[in-house]
Amino acid sequence: MMSETNRATAREIARKHLEADDPLGWFEDLYSQAGEDTSIIPWADMMPNPNVVDWLDWFPEAATGKALKIGCGLGDDAEELTRRGFETTAFDISESAIAWSRKRYPESPVSYIIADLFSAPAEWESKFDFVLESYTLQVLPPNLRAEAVRCIASFVAYGGTLLVIARGRELSEPEGNMPWPLTKDDLSLFETHGLKEVTFEDYMDSEDPPVRRFRATYRRVK
Ligand SMILES: C[S@@+](CC[C@H](N)C(=O)[O-])C[C@H]1O[C@@H](n2cnc3c(N)ncnc32)[C@H](O)[C@@H]1O
Repeated sequence: MMSETNRATAREIARKHLEADDPLGWFEDLYSQAGEDTSIIPWADMMPNPNVVDWLDWFPEAATGKALKIGCGLGDDAEELTRRGFETTAFDISESAIAWSRKRYPESPVSYIIADLFSAPAEWESKFDFVLESYTLQVLPPNLRAEAVRCIASFVAYGGTLLVIARGRELSEPEGNMPWPLTKDDLSLFETHGLKEVTFEDYMDSEDPPVRRFRATYRRVK
């Protein structure tokens, strides 16, 4: 369980970079400063995200073909996708996070890659049968969100599926301050990039205290 001091450390690192108009630099700073102390990383639960696991349990037939994990952190979700049957590529902007994932899973068939969502390899376009975005959009400032959505959508192959899991809020609620919860309108942007919404859930998760989550799936239809 993460202490308030550690959470404050992570927020302080983020704040400095955000104030310096460097919204992507803090991830590497956080992972590298952590050394191997996972308690510093707010989202490092060292197990697959239960909101992802539930979905995979409900739709086991989805686990086939090539998968891409956006912002893979320390690799737990990528490993779970592979365990379920996907051929998985997982990327993160932080070289320390990728090195850490490779060290944790030295025998893993997952292809762990250092890459920035906003300048990902061109050959990833329309390449993946399944794309998993969980918790990256919500740590990107709102002014980067539309472009992040466009980039994420671009990876999905024709007929492929995108699963998105994020903190949710009403448009009338405060925008937040890292993490920035998403609105339903934010998620509907995926439908402007050739994707069609298949499912949409709005629920309180099992964290303590519970967090409002949106979990949505989209299929590429054009
Ligand atoms: C909130 S963490 C979630 C990590 C992981 N999905 C999990 O649930 O444990 C967001 C991750 O996205 C990565 N990230 C942030 N911006 C990115 C970008 N532009 N390109 C690739 N990865 C990025 C961060 O380094 C971090 O590991």
